[in-house]
Parts: sequence; structure tokens; C-alpha cells
Amino acid sequence: MTGSSGGAGAATAARDGRGHAGRRPPGPGRAETPRVLAALARDPLAAGLGLYRRYGDLVRVPLLRGDRALFVLSHPDHAEHVFVTRHADYPKSVTYRPLREFLGDGLVTSEGALWERQRRLIQPLFSHRRVAAFHPVMVRNVRRMLDDWDRRAPGDVVDVSEAMSLLTLNIVGEALFGADLRGPGARVSPSVTAMQDFAVTAMRNPLLLRAPRLGLRTTPGYRKWAAAVRAVDEVVATVIAARRAGGTRDSAGPDLLDALLDARHEDGTALGDRQLRDEIVTFLMAGHETSATALVWALYLLATHPAARQRLEEEVDTVLAGRDPGPEDLDGLVWTKAVLCEALRLYPPFWTLERDALRDDEIDGVRVPAGSTVAVPPYLVHRHPDFWENPEGFDPGRFLPGRGAGRHRHAFIPFGGGRRGCVGNAFAMTETVVVIAMLAQGRRLDVPSGGVPAVQPTVTLRPRGGLHMVLRRR
Ligand code: HEM
Repeated sequence: MTGSSGGAGAATAARDGRGHAGRRPPGPGRAETPRVLAALARDPLAAGLGLYRRYGDLVRVPLLRGDRALFVLSHPDHAEHVFVTRHADYPKSVTYRPLREFLGDGLVTSEGALWERQRRLIQPLFSHRRVAAFHPVMVRNVRRMLDDWDRRAPGDVVDVSEAMSLLTLNIVGEALFGADLRGPGARVSPSVTAMQDFAVTAMRNPLLLRAPRLGLRTTPGYRKWAAAVRAVDEVVATVIAARRAGGTRDSAGPDLLDALLDARHEDGTALGDRQLRDEIVTFLMAGHETSATALVWALYLLATHPAARQRLEEEVDTVLAGRDPGPEDLDGLVWTKAVLCEALRLYPPFWTLERDALRDDEIDGVRVPAGSTVAVPPYLVHRHPDFWENPEGFDPGRFLPGRGAGRHRHAFIPFGGGRRGCVGNAFAMTETVVVIAMLAQGRRLDVPSGGVPAVQPTVTLRPRGGLHMVLRRR
């Protein structure tokens, strides 16, 4: 399936006004559950859209035993309910467990008091002001990649997925940990991919719910996964050792690694090695693959929408006049930013967000029994026809200043929502705008003919087999 196929179309009719109180919850009967779960495992995007078209924006899939169910929710009100209003009753789902196995108690997968403390510690480093201080690191890394590209012959094919992955990894490594990952990055990047693939297979292993350890060990690819974890751990240990040994770094002020090393518990003790490792691995993963995926889709969409690309090139030429972008230029790059937002709408890197209900609840008049899993896929919310005209169409104009006035706050949730929303969203927006703007200065990437990528929903939403593009000068 590609971004231009399908559409969430008929769901408004199925929805039939807000609230389902007093009626049978919309969704398949129990006898259909195995077929529906198999379809969701095989092709979650198509199956999710199919459920939406058939039943509307709240779908209940009864599980085989008891009254627990899987809920697929795609109305912005549902997102707000789960992520904001009742967030305390919806911790991250058991489906995150395979991720937790290598991210440990880092910010993405921790809960409760530990999460609160770590978020308080880390959040200030991602304020707009602090992100502006990371700007030179971003520009320097993009410049280095472009200098490499400029040595290639025009018409060369670039593996854009790999290039963006290495670029964003280098940026995160240098900005947050003062580490030069250009050498080790060659090992980290494929390891993260291997971990993602494994996490997705493990999530579908039925044993996982009842016996997580056994579920992981019996998932195909366990050994490869364990080797990938070891490879990443070795790199992380080197990064920590280098800083402890007083390694030199940029003068942009204390970075994430300083904050983690300086942090003290109430009793005055420092973070343990395990917690340090978990946060670093978490940020290496959460902070690079997501931005890389967003960039890859933005480049693909620009290549297939020449008018949007031309407008972007004109904007970049006018605002930057051949210079490297500085933090003060970002406000002027409104079309570039709108293109990225539209790419994030059509291809949200975290295409589904899942939580488990701690206690009985009611959403839209439908009872949600404790222990149920609720999936709020940004992929579906971003296609809800009540909030997005021509949902499958690529139209960056929707994100120009003033155009989103009155839009539901949770109709656009590429960074999640509420307290567990992405801590790195300002970092990501700055980084992706800088990359696209610098790329557009004098270069163009085209898709070879017939190169429509299939979408592969692993932990992030990647083009299957990666995206290869033809590099040209303009
Ligand atoms: C376009 C790029 C990005 C996208 C689309 C994205 C998306 C998200 C989403 C949807 C969540 C919430 C997950 C959930 O609710 O289950 C999240 C959380 C998180 N993101 Fe991002 N992210 C991006 C870039 C970044 C960057 C650059 C960093 C760090 C430098 C980062 C660090 C994190 C962390 C640490 C969390 C966990 C926050 C918490 O639970 O307190 N992300 N991200």
C-alpha cells in the first residue's frame, strides 16, 4: 500500500453521530477475531483502514477469552481521552515489552516515579533555546554529507534511507552525547534496524503476553537481536567512558550526557550505569530512526510533487540566499516546514501508539474493560475525513501559518500527545527543516521510474527495502 492509495472515506457514515451508548459496540464478532488479528498482523495499515471504513472511528475487536478487547481508535477526541484526560489509566501497552527489553528503563519505556524524575531532568535540554544551540551540529553534519555527495557523479543513485539514518544518528550522537559516531554508526544503525524488526515480530508472538521472557526467546531472530543489543551496548560503553575520561566536546553548554552524569537521586547518589545506558540507547534510537524516516518520506513526496518542490526551492533560495541556515532563518522557511508536517501526517514514523487500560473505562459510550489494549494509530487519526479534506492527498498548504486555525489539537499527533508526548519534537523539526533546506540548495533527488515504495510498518513506518534516489544538480 502506498500513501496515495485507499482513504478513510466511509467512516463518517459508519460513525453515525458521536457516542455508541446503548448499542452493540462497533466491530467484528468474536468468531471473526482470529481473522481480524491475522490481518492486522499481516498488513496493519490496510487492515486498520479496512476496520475504520467498515465500523467507524471506534472499533472493538473482542479477544478470545474474557471481556478484554483490542480497541482501534481514530478520532482526535479518543486520542485526547487516552493521552491527556485519562492518561494515568492508560500506561504503555504490553506490546512495548520487546522494545523495553533493549531500551530498559529509558524515557520511552519507563513508567511511574522513575519516568517522572527522568522526564523532569531531561526536558529542559530540549527547550527551543537549547535546541537552537544544537543548530551548528546539525548544519555541520549535513554539510559533511553533502560534501560527500558532491563528489559523486550527477545521476548517481543514493540509498537515501541509509544516508538519512546515518546522518540523524551522527547528529544525535554529537548533539546529545558529544560523540563522533561516524565509525561506530556503521554498526549502530543496522543494529537498530535489527532490533526494530525483532520487536515487531516479538509483539505478535502470543506467548509474549503470558510469559514475556519465554516469548522473546522463542521469537525467530532472537540471537541476531541479542548480538545487535551487544553491539549497541559496546558503543554506548565507549561513549560513557570517553566522557568520564574528560573527552573534549563542543562548547554549546552541558549536553544530555552531562545532565545524566551530574544527576543525583534524593539521597545524593548518581544514576547507576544501567540507567545511564538505558537513557543513551533510548535517545540513540528514539532520536534518529524517527527523524530519518520523516526525512525519507519528505524527500519521496517532494520528488513526486514537482510544484511543491519548486516552491520549496524558491523559498530556500530567497530565505537563505546560498548561506547555511541559522536558527533565525527557520521562521522564514514556512513552506519547508509545511512539507515536513504533511509528510509526518501521511507517514507518521510512529504509525501506531498503544496503551493498556488499567481500569474499566468508557470511551464514546463504549465500555473499555480493564486489561484491554487501545491502539490510537496516528496513521488513521491523520486520515480522519472530518478533520482532513482529501485525506490521502499531499497538500502542505494545510500547514501554512493560519491554515490550521480551529483544527482539533489531537487531529495531528505525529509526536503523540499529553505528558508522554515526544520530548524531542522541537529538535526533530529543527533538524528536519535544516536537512531539507540544505539539500534543496543546488541539489535534487528524484525517484527512478517505477520507484513507488511500499510501506513497511515496523516500529517506525519505513519504505520497504529502503528508498534509492537519483542525485542531480539543479
Ligand atoms: C520526526 C521525528 C520524531 C517523531 C515523529 C517522534 C515521535 C514520537 C512519539 C509519537 C512519541 C510518543 C510515543 C508514545 O506515546 O508511545 C515519542 C516519544 C519520545 N521521543 Fe520522539 N519523535 C521524533 C524525534 C525524536 C527526537 C529527535 C528525539 C530525541 C532527540 C526523540 C525522543 C523521544 C523520547 C525520549 C520519547 C519518550 C518521551 C516520554 O515518554 O517521556 N524523538 N516520539
